[in-house]
Amino acid sequence: MATKEKLIHHVMDGEPVGSRTKVTVVGVGMVGMASAVSILLKGLCDELALVDVMEDKLKGEVMDLQHGSLFLNTHKIVGGKDYSVTAGSRVVVVTAGARQQEGESRLNLVQRNVGIFKFIIPQIVKHSPNCIMLVVSNPVDILTYVAWKLSGLPRHRVIGSGTNLDSGRFRHLMGEKLKLHPSSCHGWIVGEHGDSSVPVWSGVNVAGVSLMALNPDMGTDKDKDNWKHVHKEVVESAYEVIKLKGYTSWAIGMSVADLVESMVRNLHKVHPVSTLVKGMHGVTEEVFLSVPCVLGNSGLTDVVKMTLKPDEEAQLKKSAETLWGVQKELTL
Ligand SMILES: NC(=O)c1ccc[n+]([C@@H]2O[C@H](COP(=O)([O-])OP(=O)(O)OC[C@H]3O[C@@H](n4cnc5c(N)ncnc54)[C@H](O)[C@@H]3O)[C@@H](O)[C@H]2O)c1
Repeated sequence: MATKEKLIHHVMDGEPVGSRTKVTVVGVGMVGMASAVSILLKGLCDELALVDVMEDKLKGEVMDLQHGSLFLNTHKIVGGKDYSVTAGSRVVVVTAGARQQEGESRLNLVQRNVGIFKFIIPQIVKHSPNCIMLVVSNPVDILTYVAWKLSGLPRHRVIGSGTNLDSGRFRHLMGEKLKLHPSSCHGWIVGEHGDSSVPVWSGVNVAGVSLMALNPDMGTDKDKDNWKHVHKEVVESAYEVIKLKGYTSWAIGMSVADLVESMVRNLHKVHPVSTLVKGMHGVTEEVFLSVPCVLGNSGLTDVVKMTLKPDEEAQLKKSAETLWGVQKELTL
């Protein structure tokens, strides 16, 4: 009799129930691994699956994480090139794709990444037809639209990480300026992830005290405190980090885990993430942009109706036109 049989008396008949909260991360690059580690450290899944086309790198990452199992609360960590390892996932995080080069705009990345998505997305849906898909690859708003189209999933189950990171950066910088923790600094960056994102100055507050009520020039060139610069820094900070270390990873990884947490724990928290905004704020095109969205275990169930000023709505409409201009040229 083998040692295992001598040690353990098996009492259950039939098949085990299996994973209940399986999360897959597609792409084990810098963003994928930062997301995977953040998800593991928060103990959000009972099974984590990783997929990539680079087999050795994938195998190495899976082994490295498995060696940390003792320090984690996730029973099973698996990986493979074949999407069968992802079967039955609750949430699939898509980080695969070419990454932004120094000085390259996110829009330039689009065509390269559409080609990759044409292969990935049908595979994900085949093995996890009930999953919620969270797209992180850039340009995230366009690729979320692409993933929605290619997947055939309902709109509430295809979400882009959108301006969740931009808002996090804004709240960090606001916290630095006010010497407060970012969680006490409320501010929403909406619209397009990146260069054309929109700061909603009227909503910036601490403890419900509107900063704009105290400083009506906030966000304008007349503002002596130069809050506009804070948003400029948000936009420039991704380029700055890429210039300094070659890529961005930790903050996006942590922000992805925050979104996954709201979904797997059914928290109904409101996050600025990318969703189909046709019919909202005067947008007429079939595009994805970030607005405050409620996330739970069904996916993205509701959108908070923001009170935007005419120039903020104009910026959203302009982004929608730009995105649609790119999207209509794509062959899906
Ligand atoms: N939304 C955001 O806020 C945000 C922030 C940072 C980065 N990003 C984006 O995330 C993406 C990943 O960035 P990164 O730094 O991790 O890049 P990376 O080059 O380090 O990793 C990309 C990974 O994707 C894999 N890949 C390529 N084709 C694949 C395929 N067909 N199937 C599976 N895997 C495949 C590559 O092998 C690689 O491991 C980029 O598009 C980047 O612009 C988004």
